[in-house]
Amino acid sequence: MNSRTLRRKYIDFFVQKHGHAEISGASLIPENDPTVLFTTAGMHPLVPYLMGETHPQGNRLVDVQKCLRTDDIDEVGDTTHLTFFEMLGNWSLGDYFKKEAIKMSYEFLTEELGLDPNRLSVSCFEGDDDCPKDEEAAKAWEALGFSREGDKKRIYFFGKKENWWGPAGLTGPCGPDTEMFFEIDQPKCSDSCDPSCDCGKFVEIWNDVFMQYNKTEKGTFEPLAQKNVDTGLGLDRVAAILQGVPTVFETDLFVPILNKIRKLTQEEDVISYRIIADHLRAATFILADPQAVRPSNTDQGYVLRRLIRRAIRHGMKLGIEGAFAVQIAEVIIENYKDAYPELERSRDFIRSALTEEETKFSKTLGKGEREFEKMMKRLEQDGIKSLTGEMAFKLYDTYGFPLEMTQELAKEQGLTVDCDSYEECFKKHQEKSRAGAAAKFSGGLQDDHAETVKLHTATHLLQAALREILGDHVYQKGSNITHERLRFDFTNSEGMTPEQKETVTARVNEIIEANLPITFEMMTVDEAKASGAIGVFPDRYDEKIKVYTVEGFSKEICGGPHVASTGALGIFKIKKEQSSGAGVRRIKATLRDGVEEIEFAEEV
Ligand code: ALA
Repeated sequence: MNSRTLRRKYIDFFVQKHGHAEISGASLIPENDPTVLFTTAGMHPLVPYLMGETHPQGNRLVDVQKCLRTDDIDEVGDTTHLTFFEMLGNWSLGDYFKKEAIKMSYEFLTEELGLDPNRLSVSCFEGDDDCPKDEEAAKAWEALGFSREGDKKRIYFFGKKENWWGPAGLTGPCGPDTEMFFEIDQPKCSDSCDPSCDCGKFVEIWNDVFMQYNKTEKGTFEPLAQKNVDTGLGLDRVAAILQGVPTVFETDLFVPILNKIRKLTQEEDVISYRIIADHLRAATFILADPQAVRPSNTDQGYVLRRLIRRAIRHGMKLGIEGAFAVQIAEVIIENYKDAYPELERSRDFIRSALTEEETKFSKTLGKGEREFEKMMKRLEQDGIKSLTGEMAFKLYDTYGFPLEMTQELAKEQGLTVDCDSYEECFKKHQEKSRAGAAAKFSGGLQDDHAETVKLHTATHLLQAALREILGDHVYQKGSNITHERLRFDFTNSEGMTPEQKETVTARVNEIIEANLPITFEMMTVDEAKASGAIGVFPDRYDEKIKVYTVEGFSKEICGGPHVASTGALGIFKIKKEQSSGAGVRRIKATLRDGVEEIEFAEEV
């Protein structure tokens, strides 16, 4: 059974046989949820409904959810672990509970997929001070012929580590779960081998979570008024079982990708193949997200960078010549675009981001590796078994090696990395560059010639006018100013109508004619936020930043400089409004007939 059929069969089973409504999976980067970088499970977008909000589609839902988890990243390369994966899930929002959920899971596995019930084992929560043993789940399994004792023992009890699903944040819906395992054709590693063992004998394929508690701020567990079921079946793992192959990498989800890698390489190294395939698949899906994240040194961008750079390093290790990430990504897009049309839509963005990152990194990778070897020699001579923080920081700062990659290189040589002192170096470096931080938030002003400064001020007027007229979902995505024109990228899902362009132009010119004064103040981040200023806020809250105010019209964090009053600008005109990637629009605009000699806005 190919994976496409498996996805369909799952949805159909729950829709047609058990009255669920199919909902589309959420994006890989959660919207409006600052607590997690990626969607790691299907529950993230559904938390309000788990807490009792009415879902528009009803209280039985089914979906396919793209997930990304980086906690298993070092395990990637074995037979089952992945960073990106798809999870098939059925949901009960206060509708059915344990008995029915377990029966549905069992029916799907044995009747729909035809798995041998004798090769299935399950685990349930053993109970602790917070919550009692999950007898209800165990009884439901017993009713289906599973026993807890004897030769045919197939119900196991474990603690919170194995059989408990925590809330999405620090507090919220949570509860015990029951996990299902498929026994593969290999001997047990020991007499005590059971589903909690990671030798590979028992492959975890499905998890039914019973959300019956709310974890409170005090850390206590209160029964939830609405009891929910959240299940997750790992598509890749089940595909491997159904396709009779020993690893997820031999399923139809991966075979075309691995074949392509094999063609490009001179050396056979299955672990590196798998790492490249997994990491570039994850990177391709991150890049296809509507939020258009690019590789960077923070947040999602950093994870993306780590994945791409680690894949590139393993590619180099295998002797792949030249840029290859895009070639692999093309195969991934082809293999997945029917199920995930966003891959096709973002093809150009994926290509350009991967090419840029690969070009950047391959320039320094070789040099960095040579530097690493030199460091090794020095350490060897001194008989030291750990890379210093300074060394790791140099590899990061000068050669673009993510810390985790340096750790991996070190591990290959039997060494460790002094991460604490790395963090110290990192902080010291941040403090040094903080002096220039205000300039970083200036929105791209390159010089302070009169024409450029006027266009810079016009950019602030434009952003304020766009927010006034299109709505305050508009915010700056990028700005580039020359002495001839401004270029402003902003979030907006659709193109502007001719009327909207006229209204915005007229509003900016009105503000120019009103000749409003412009000043700036130095504030802390908190003060700036309280003042209603918009812009990119730095991470450190005690940091002083500059906030520019166009009296009564705009307030923005900015490094400056700006003109002292709007009358200096002349006449504003939008030259072009076009798309600049998914959900991002770009305006090019000019000024004419402004004053020749400008005065700069001053601090108040
Ligand atoms: N949320 C549960 C999991 O990811 C189903 O395992």
